Amino acid sequence: MPTLAIVKKFNVSFDASYAPVAVFVGGTSGVGQGMVEAFARSVHGRAHIIIVGRNGYAAADIIARLPRPDEDGWKHEFVSCDASLMANVRALCAEIRAKVKRINFLVITTGYSSMVNIGITSEGLDLHLALRYYQRYVFIHELLPLVQAAHSLSEDSKILCVLGAGRGSPKRPIDLNNLGNTVNPRAGGFTVALRSMIASSGYTDAMLAHFAAQNPGIAFTHIHPGVVRTPTMGADFSGLLTPVSWLINFILHFIAVPQEECAEHMLYALFNGERGLFLRDRYGDVVSALEFEAPVELGESVETSVLNGVPMKGYGASDIGVRRIIEHSETVTRTK
Ligand SMILES: NC(=O)c1ccc[n+]([C@@H]2O[C@H](COP(=O)([O-])OP(=O)(O)OC[C@H]3O[C@@H](n4cnc5c(N)ncnc54)[C@H](OP(=O)(O)O)[C@@H]3O)[C@@H](O)[C@H]2O)c1
Repeated sequence: MPTLAIVKKFNVSFDASYAPVAVFVGGTSGVGQGMVEAFARSVHGRAHIIIVGRNGYAAADIIARLPRPDEDGWKHEFVSCDASLMANVRALCAEIRAKVKRINFLVITTGYSSMVNIGITSEGLDLHLALRYYQRYVFIHELLPLVQAAHSLSEDSKILCVLGAGRGSPKRPIDLNNLGNTVNPRAGGFTVALRSMIASSGYTDAMLAHFAAQNPGIAFTHIHPGVVRTPTMGADFSGLLTPVSWLINFILHFIAVPQEECAEHMLYALFNGERGLFLRDRYGDVVSALEFEAPVELGESVETSVLNGVPMKGYGASDIGVRRIIEHSETVTRTK
């Protein structure tokens, strides 16, 4: 487990011969904000940094405090997007493709968690899954050609999702009969929310495994941030269970780490690992990883926590699960 001092030292030693292009989806708050700030320090501001979110005021405040080099060749900007709708995400990705020719780092920290609000979006998607999973799929799918362009220039080409890595187990396979969490009955807010929250981690494992298997030169990382003091942290039970929320939030306050500290570990994870699939813990340590020598079509194996015949600790999908989840994601995000 690398200490905070070690990861900070490692992060500031990052030295690229070019000005990197980095996109931070969810960079207006929490872990994402901390990562934007730590990344900007590592490159002394010499990068094209694109922050994606809804809160333009927060973004302007963050951007105003980033280091600004004297030389040209850098840009720090905000682009607005409500990522709960996939049509918005696709439009925003087209906007980004018109702005830049390559992306070196694509970081997605967008989050949503509620024990009581279990809406369906106007596009017919479960709100939790839209914000925790589907938008990640669409961002990566639509921006992958730019990350591939960075790879073809022999530059850093890395994609990182901060969500819930390492939670998979052979005892908890993804429910392939309730893909999207809209098939089974949706009575009972808490149960439905919990199903989506658990599913989003397995779906993200599956999605990143799919892209890693198809793009052996690029690094795809799913990482768990631990408990972090941010707006997303905590429980929001209502009614008779409100005191339970108070208690949980009181306890979490003492065990949570500041977003700046978490962000250094997340950045360490982003900079480490050249290619393949990585599942990492809150310190940035590898829980499991797999490199592919050439593009691979995954098969029909139903074994959870096994990827292309290799056992993967904490990996929440199976090869057939990857195929089914990608088919499902393509169908429900394309028709919007
Ligand atoms: N904090 C924790 O203890 C913890 C624990 C486990 C996992 N995680 C996961 O870690 C990730 C980061 O969490 P965090 O605590 O840093 O979250 P956070 O502080 O609440 O930040 C969430 C980010 O998502 C963006 N976002 C939310 N809804 C959006 C929408 N509809 N459209 C566009 N952007 C939206 C927000 O931007 P705008 O407000 O500008 O829209 C914000 O930048 C999340 O995936 C979370 O599930 C966190």
